[in-house]
Amino acid sequence: MSKTRRIEALQDLEPTTDEFHASVIKGLSAPQKTLPCKFFYDERGSQLFDEICSLPEYYPTRTELGILERHAGDIARLAGPKARLVELGSGAGVKIRLLLRALEAPAAYLPVEISREHMLAANRSIAARFPELHIAPVCADYTRPFALPELPGIEHGTTLGFFPGSTIGNFSRAEAVSFLRVARDLLGKDALMIVGVDLVKDTRLLRAAYNDTAGVTAAFNLNLLRRINRELGGTFDLAAFRHEARWNEALERIEMHLVSMREQQIAIRRDSFHFAEGETIHTESSHKYRIDGFKALAMEAGYAPVDVWTDDEELFSVHALRTA
Ligand code: TRP
Repeated sequence: MSKTRRIEALQDLEPTTDEFHASVIKGLSAPQKTLPCKFFYDERGSQLFDEICSLPEYYPTRTELGILERHAGDIARLAGPKARLVELGSGAGVKIRLLLRALEAPAAYLPVEISREHMLAANRSIAARFPELHIAPVCADYTRPFALPELPGIEHGTTLGFFPGSTIGNFSRAEAVSFLRVARDLLGKDALMIVGVDLVKDTRLLRAAYNDTAGVTAAFNLNLLRRINRELGGTFDLAAFRHEARWNEALERIEMHLVSMREQQIAIRRDSFHFAEGETIHTESSHKYRIDGFKALAMEAGYAPVDVWTDDEELFSVHALRTA
């Protein structure tokens, strides 16, 4: 077999500035102003997010990594040899290395990620570490339908979907079901899907995870306004908004808001938006699940639960599902 690195040309479906503009205008025009969280991840946003992942208060990343370390062998056994690994939201590529090391002769790695440069940098170092691996990157918003790149001449076994980080929690429950259905069609029949899902717990712990003392999460949230100013010619005064993380008890979710600290008017190109003092922009939700509740949701979306692993404190769960 050839020892040359095999990184396919990027399949580039990155959202355009027009799409960004359209969804910002739509979100800010709603009675409860919102901004779509997928636009958090520009270069600075991706860096800040990596910082969040290693904050002492942000337990999900290290807890999930611990679970994956413990159960990578189980996942590898379920997947079998020559897996085709599809990662949705690949980020810095730390978790995938764990899986790649455990899998038996993985055939191909297909990272799907909205933050292009971030992904390409991670791919280069994965290619160096796993020279036999075929890499076919896709820059896309995976909440929209898209096709996986063909891999002519590459023989593979089971398709293994990987959706870590409790990103599933950033969808509402209904959106999570439709997302999992789309993912099922993308991965095909008899595929395995590994999903990281954060669990309901003490609200103090939850609140701290989304409102760290160093202020990194606040900077991450506010960066969205900075991006609107830079890419869409917005006039947000970043000093006139503050970050707030709220626990919504009824919906069992953390909500990230940007609170307007005074009455103000902001412009984006030809549109203008009014903010009352204390009015918020809801930028992201992070839904928390119970193990059985998530299994039920997965079944509703056409998956059979195969196994589930947690840490000793039951902070976080990793589910193995199979597509029907
Ligand atoms: N999927 C992550 C989560 O829900 C995303 C996230 C973590 C996040 N911290 C954040 C998003 C802060 C916005 C702001 O935990």
